[in-house]
Amino acid sequence: MDIRAALKNGIAQLREANAPSFTLAAELLLLHVLSRNRTWLYAHPEEILSDTDANRFLDLITRRAAGEPTQHLTGKQEFWGLEFEVTPDVLIPRPETEHLIEVALDRLAVRELRANRPPKSDGAGLQIADIGTGSGCIAITLAKELPQANFVATDISPAALAVAKRNATRHAVADRIEFSQANLLSPVGAQHAAPHPGKIQNSAPPASRESRITDHDSRLFDLIASNPPYIGRREADSLAREVRDHEPHAALFGGYEGYELYADLITQSAQHLKPSGILVLELGHNSLEAVQPLLDTSAWTNIGVTNDLAAIPRILAAERV
Ligand SMILES: C[S@@+](CC[C@H](N)C(=O)[O-])C[C@H]1O[C@@H](n2cnc3c(N)ncnc32)[C@H](O)[C@@H]1O
Repeated sequence: MDIRAALKNGIAQLREANAPSFTLAAELLLLHVLSRNRTWLYAHPEEILSDTDANRFLDLITRRAAGEPTQHLTGKQEFWGLEFEVTPDVLIPRPETEHLIEVALDRLAVRELRANRPPKSDGAGLQIADIGTGSGCIAITLAKELPQANFVATDISPAALAVAKRNATRHAVADRIEFSQANLLSPVGAQHAAPHPGKIQNSAPPASRESRITDHDSRLFDLIASNPPYIGRREADSLAREVRDHEPHAALFGGYEGYELYADLITQSAQHLKPSGILVLELGHNSLEAVQPLLDTSAWTNIGVTNDLAAIPRILAAERV
């Protein structure tokens, strides 16, 4: 079988199975099997596939037709121009989350301008937290953009943290990101309760990796970013099977309504941000109404909402007073 025939066959099977973006999916799976790029693929339509490659491709097409996401079959997804490893243990990074990166970088630049410093910062001295890091795409992308900043990236799932660590190593930022299993910002297994706001003093860089792993619950940050699970369990039946049956439920569902985690996230962020520290949150398609009022306290100022390309309010940002 040549490349043209294999692709035609794969596209036909995926179309028959009602797989979304069936042409792109078939192309990506063939490129993955052949370890080639798209230019090569279309320049060599007559190339004959080895039996091994043809069988591997048809196997992947069958699995995709049965609902497995393309990214689980290729093991990767691009985000902000960077390639991330993905497995069934992490949410597949979504394009909407790139708006969160844009807003975070814009807000940090405005802060620099206000302090009479050049807007394009290398992040020197900045302490940043990514809550619910999943694949690590937010912390790692910000670490690439801010090559002098330091990070804490938390997740409740140890399996997700393992993937995030591998991605940090792949992108050569692992030495600046402390990965920690935590419930939001409270380390899992810690004996103490969330810190009292009046007791937070520790904004100095930690002395050692060991101390960082245990004491981030008392650290103060310049920026806290989070794309928390925000889908409502009541919406589960309306999700695509690729999402509902294959992505981790801890990454998808925030509770029955979906927005349940935001109250704790905002309370903990108020306790963990420096004065003028920035909070940037991704929202579910219908979360704004429930979440924005949570910022309506004397702790927050400069509240802003950014729409995604589909005009859905997607990013909520605020500054700690
Ligand atoms: C929507 S995913 C976001 C993943 C990644 N940040 C991204 O933007 O693609 C939410 C992540 O939060 C984690 N998570 C869920 N509940 C959590 C909690 N209470 N504390 C910390 N992480 C949590 C999930 O395991 C998942 O990795």
